[in-house]
Amino acid sequence: MKVTIIHGSPRNGNTGTAERFFTDELVHCGDVEFTDVFPLKALPAFCIGCQRCLGGESCPHAQHVEPVLEAVLAADALVITSPHYGASTMPASLKNLFDHLDFLALAVSPREEMFGKRAFIITTGSGSKAAIGTIAGCLKNWGINCVHSFGMRMLTNAWDKMPKQKQARFENSLRRAARRFYAEKRGKPYLYTVFMYYLSRFILRRYVGSGSYPYNYWDERGWFQKRPF
Ligand SMILES: Cc1cc2nc3c(=O)[nH]c(=O)nc-3n(C[C@H](O)[C@H](O)[C@H](O)COP(=O)(O)O)c2cc1C
Repeated sequence: MKVTIIHGSPRNGNTGTAERFFTDELVHCGDVEFTDVFPLKALPAFCIGCQRCLGGESCPHAQHVEPVLEAVLAADALVITSPHYGASTMPASLKNLFDHLDFLALAVSPREEMFGKRAFIITTGSGSKAAIGTIAGCLKNWGINCVHSFGMRMLTNAWDKMPKQKQARFENSLRRAARRFYAEKRGKPYLYTVFMYYLSRFILRRYVGSGSYPYNYWDERGWFQKRPF
């Protein structure tokens, strides 16, 4: 299994600790190959909102975006980790990654590889787990049909400050989740994906039309006649 880990925390702290329990357990499950993406280093510039990607043109930061996109597309599974930050739930560097890859949205130019991928989200927070909802929304919007998560309400800002019993409980839960995630068989597409496909098809036909992007992107792939999943 090829796993790309998107390390959403700008530092090696609680979220890194939690991720290592999960990925260590994956290694015990079988043949797993990891690729690491650190958004803070991988994408040194912010999305400037030019919308070229939404029109099928190259991003001004393509030299940084392309390797990240390749790592995402090549993976059988994604592991996205993030601490919860009060302003918009995730660190700016991770949000920047999602902004740079927003052209993968179902209504624009999704990639066929996404529909067969699975993803696992790990979040830590002093109290909140709300980052899960935002990240899961982005992944489902890319067409990923199998999104699981585990969020930790630590009620402190440091892993070691949690009672030992609580640390062990989180570790056990993460290891169990990793085993389940590794063994999971591909299921039916989410109702959300099916709904978004038909909604996107309607919008592209009615409001975008032939000769424009992303209508042409969909048309070249035959997606107006047949679902890509
Ligand atoms: C800028 C910032 C904002 C934060 N906002 C929240 C918050 O609104 N709710 C919360 O539960 N924790 C919040 N936290 C705490 C972190 O989510 C928590 O300590 C997390 O485990 C840190 O992960 P890390 O060690 O991987 O950086 C915030 C931390 C930072 C740095």
